Amino acid sequence: MNAPLPGAAVAGLPATAATLQLQVRGLRLEAEGVLGVELADPGGAALPAVEAGAHVDLHLPGGLVRSYSLAGDPADRRSWRLGVLREAQGRGGSRSLHERVRVGELLTVGAPRNAFALPAQASHVVLLAGGIGITPLKAMAHQLVREGRSFALHLCARSPRHAAYAEELQALVPAGRLHLHFDGGDPARGLDIAALLATPAAGTHVCYCGPAGFMRACAEATAHWPAGTVHCEHFKAPEPTTPALPAGAFEVHLARAGLTVQVQPAQTIVRAIELAGLRVPTSCLSGLCGACKVDVLEGEPEHNDYILSDEEKARCMTVCVSRARGPRLVLDL
Ligand code: FES
Repeated sequence: MNAPLPGAAVAGLPATAATLQLQVRGLRLEAEGVLGVELADPGGAALPAVEAGAHVDLHLPGGLVRSYSLAGDPADRRSWRLGVLREAQGRGGSRSLHERVRVGELLTVGAPRNAFALPAQASHVVLLAGGIGITPLKAMAHQLVREGRSFALHLCARSPRHAAYAEELQALVPAGRLHLHFDGGDPARGLDIAALLATPAAGTHVCYCGPAGFMRACAEATAHWPAGTVHCEHFKAPEPTTPALPAGAFEVHLARAGLTVQVQPAQTIVRAIELAGLRVPTSCLSGLCGACKVDVLEGEPEHNDYILSDEEKARCMTVCVSRARGPRLVLDL
């Protein structure tokens, strides 16, 4: 996700076992409005291993926390690279980064998480990026090139000036596999996503990331693809297409803590647990990042997230947005 996720505000959070203090080693304009941020250990130590598609939480000046995808080569443990689109109408995270972060500064960075893993079993991968959605897909391209796997990368942007990492991708991606599409701001003049994805091919998987309209177009174009072959990451929670059902109250038992909490209709499970004095790790609070993923030991969740696969939904849930279908859940907490 590259991708300003709507993060929880955490003021002055010190580095903990789950966070790192990293130094801003470089800032660079990657495209119109896109700031490239390079982070490294201040002492030069290798950074933790990451997978393509992973993202980290950045603790920004002013107490904001935002998640951004790692856009660099996952095999390069000297530094992590982020690309941050300045969103003038956003909630302040990208503006804070663009305006206040300086080279040499130390930032608190959360441990990498990955809710958008490269499908290991695919014989061919179609990567589809809309604008700043290129960041996790660029990391995937690095890995696919290194592993000598078959793939194609489509990068859709308004113009060459708006296409972050285009030059680097042209050098990285083998000839004929990188396709740049410029629409001048009118999606009707851009890539015909429905035509591109009209016919699923055996062994082919699709990974896509981009802004809301792009995500909708990709979702519609892949609706008929076989289960498990389509993977995506949202920047922010999509607008609901149907009105939300009234939420009911239910009970959650935390098996390891030996505690039972009541979740009220207007409450999230995360909030009910916090009110009981315990804390679940969270970041986006929108069902997008996986920070609050918990194993379900009993009961049937109502999944309201945008990241869990069907296989994951059978055993776990995100407690920031998901609820219970019945009167009780037992969680591995
Ligand atoms: S906090 Fe991000 S999915 Fe729950």
